[in-house]
Amino acid sequence: MARFIDEIQRTHYCGELRTSDLGKEVVLFGWVAHRRDFGGCVFIDLRDREGIAQVVFDADYTPGEVVRTSALAAREEAFWEPPVVRAALRLAEEARREWVIGIRGVVVHRGEKNVNPRLATGEVEVRVAEAVIFNRAETPAFSIEDDIQTDEEIRLKYRYIDLRRGPLQRNLRMRHNVNQTVRQYLSDEGCLELETPILCKYTPGGARNFLVPSRLNAGKFYALAESPQLFKQLFMMSGFDKYFQIVKCFRDEDLRLDRQPEFTQIDIEMSFVSQDDIFRLLEGLMFRVFERTGTADLKALFPSGEFPRMSFAESVRRFGNDKPDLRFGLELTDLTELAISHDGGGLPLVKAIVDRFKEGSYRLDVPAEIVKAFVIPASANFSRPQLEAFEKNLGEIKGFKGLARAKVAEGGAWTQSPLTKSVSHEFRLAVNAALGAQDGDVLCFQFGKTDVVNATLSKLRLDVGKKLGLIPESGHGGKWQLLWVVNPPLFEQNDDGTWAAAHHAFTRPVDEHLELLSSDPARVLCYRYDLVLNGFEIGGGSIRLHDPDVQQKVFSVLGIEEAAAKDMFGFLLDALRSGAPPHGGIAIGMDRLTMLLSGGATLRDVIPFPKTNQGVDTMSGAPVFVAPKQLDELHVATAIKG
Ligand code: AMO
Repeated sequence: MARFIDEIQRTHYCGELRTSDLGKEVVLFGWVAHRRDFGGCVFIDLRDREGIAQVVFDADYTPGEVVRTSALAAREEAFWEPPVVRAALRLAEEARREWVIGIRGVVVHRGEKNVNPRLATGEVEVRVAEAVIFNRAETPAFSIEDDIQTDEEIRLKYRYIDLRRGPLQRNLRMRHNVNQTVRQYLSDEGCLELETPILCKYTPGGARNFLVPSRLNAGKFYALAESPQLFKQLFMMSGFDKYFQIVKCFRDEDLRLDRQPEFTQIDIEMSFVSQDDIFRLLEGLMFRVFERTGTADLKALFPSGEFPRMSFAESVRRFGNDKPDLRFGLELTDLTELAISHDGGGLPLVKAIVDRFKEGSYRLDVPAEIVKAFVIPASANFSRPQLEAFEKNLGEIKGFKGLARAKVAEGGAWTQSPLTKSVSHEFRLAVNAALGAQDGDVLCFQFGKTDVVNATLSKLRLDVGKKLGLIPESGHGGKWQLLWVVNPPLFEQNDDGTWAAAHHAFTRPVDEHLELLSSDPARVLCYRYDLVLNGFEIGGGSIRLHDPDVQQKVFSVLGIEEAAAKDMFGFLLDALRSGAPPHGGIAIGMDRLTMLLSGGATLRDVIPFPKTNQGVDTMSGAPVFVAPKQLDELHVATAIKG
C-alpha cells in the first residue's frame, strides 16, 4: 500500500488554501510550477487545476500547534519528524519543473511582507512535513505560463502540456459550465436529452460528409452525422415533443478559425411551436449561460428579454452578410438603383451592369449584379499604404478583382482615383449625397456579382472596424451584440438556372409565399433563423415542413423526382405521412459560443484536442495510412500508397 494517496489522502486543492486554513494540516498533490533553492530551504509553487500554493521545505523550521486533519492523526502518528522533514527537503532539492509531487504540511501565514496579492492563496504558505515524488517529468517543450510566444504547432503537438496553462484551463472550465447550464436549463424546460446515431446513411446536399466503410457490408459506406437533423425530426413524429442533445457533429469542410471537422452542437427540436416559441427558449438559454458563466448581465443589454431581429435581406443590404457584427456602425450603401438612374454614371464597368438590367437579364428584387459602396471616414486618416494593405487582404475572397477607391476633396471632388476621369459630374454628386460623403472620406466601391461584392465589402468593413479599434482583433472587447437574422430565401439559383435549397430541403416556406413556389421560387422566403453573436453565426434552425404536399412542391422546385426523393429521404417522407406534428428547432455551435464567451480567437482555444486547418491532429498524427490488410478487410482500395 502506497503511503501517499492510499494512506495520506488529498485534503485540499492547491488553489483553495486561504487564511481560514491557518494552522491546519493539509495534503496537496500537484505539479512543480517554480522552484527556488535558498540552500537548506526550498520554495516550490505547487500547481493543480484550482491554482498555485507556495510550499516550503525547511529542515530548521519548527511547527507550532497543528490542527490535525489527515487519517494519520487518528493513528496518532507524529505530525513532524525531523528525519522525514529532511528527506522531504532532499526531494525538493532534486525536483524540477513539472515533476508531480505530493506533500503533507501545515498552513502558516507568509508574514505581511511576503504576501503575494496576485495569488488567491498569496497570504499563506505550507510548511512541509513529508513529501513524495510521483513522477519525474522530462523538461517540458515550453513553459506553463499564461502568455507564451511558442508556435501553435508545437503547442498542439504537446497539447496535454499546453492544456495545463491557465487560459486553456479556464476555457475548458467555461466549456464545462456552458454544458452544465445548458443541460439543466433545457431539462427544466421539458426537453428530453436523447441520443441519435453517428453512423448514418449518406444523403447528398448539406455539408460534405466523412465516409466510413462497412466491413460487414462489402462496398457500402456509412456517413458520419453532420448533424442529428433528420433523427431529431423523427423524434417529433414519435411524439417526444421536446428534445435536446449536446452532440458531436462531423463535416469534411474547408477549415477556418471558427470551423473544425468535428464540433459540438447544442441541438434542439420541439413540436407544436412557432418561431417565437423557439426564440423565447433560446433567449432564456443565452441569458442563463451568460449569467452562469459570469460573462455579462444580458438583462442590462436586452431589458425586454428579447434579442433584436433583422431580416436576412436587410442584413445583407446594410452589412454585406447574414451575420453582421453590430458592435459598430460603418454600414454599406447600395447604389444599384442610383447607377441605373444615371445610366452607369460614366463608369464603363457600372454601365455594363446597368445595360444588363435594362436588357432584362437581371431583376432588381434579386439582382445578380450590384453596385455598392463603403465609406472609410476621414477621421481614420489612413495612409495610402494602409489603404493598399486593406485591398491586399481582400485578395483571399473568391472572385475579388480589385477595389475602386476615391478620396473626397473639398467641394466633393474625387481624387487619387482612376474613377475621377470618367465619372459624370451628376453621378459623383448623387453618390456623394447618398453616402453622406465628407471632405477627406475614402469611398470604396464594388460592382459586379452580388455575392462577391457583399463578401468583399463585409470583409473590408470588419478589417476597417478592427484597424480603427471599434472592435478588437479577436475577443469581445466587453461588448455583446446578439441578433436574430430571419426569413432568408428558401432557394438559391445555380449558375445553370436550376434551384438548390439554400439550407436544407425540409425548411418551411413562409405561409404567404406558398403560391410563389411554382411561379417565382426566387422570392420564396422561409422560416429560417440564425442567432448571431458579435458577428459570428452561433446557431441556426428553422420551422420544418410537416405537410407532405408542400414538401413535394419544394422537391419539384429542386428538381428532385419522386423516386429520387424516396431513395434519399424515404424514411423521413414515410414518417411525414405517418402523423407528423408541426415542428421546428435550432442548433447552437457550442464551441463557437464558448470561444466567444471566453474571448478566444479560434475554436482551438476551447476544444480540448482540436485539429489543425489541414484537419490533422498534430499530437497523435491522425489521419494515418493503414496497412493494406486492414483496407482489404474493409473492401477498400486506395490509389495512394502509404
Ligand atoms: P447549421 O449547419 O447551421 O445547422 O449548424 C448549426 C451551428 O453549428 C455551428 N457549426 C460549426 N461549428 C464549428 N465547426 C463547424 N464546422 C461548424 N459547422 C456549423 C455553427 C452553426 O450555426 N441541423 C441544423 C440545425 C437546425 O436546423 O436545427 C444545423 O446543423 O455555429
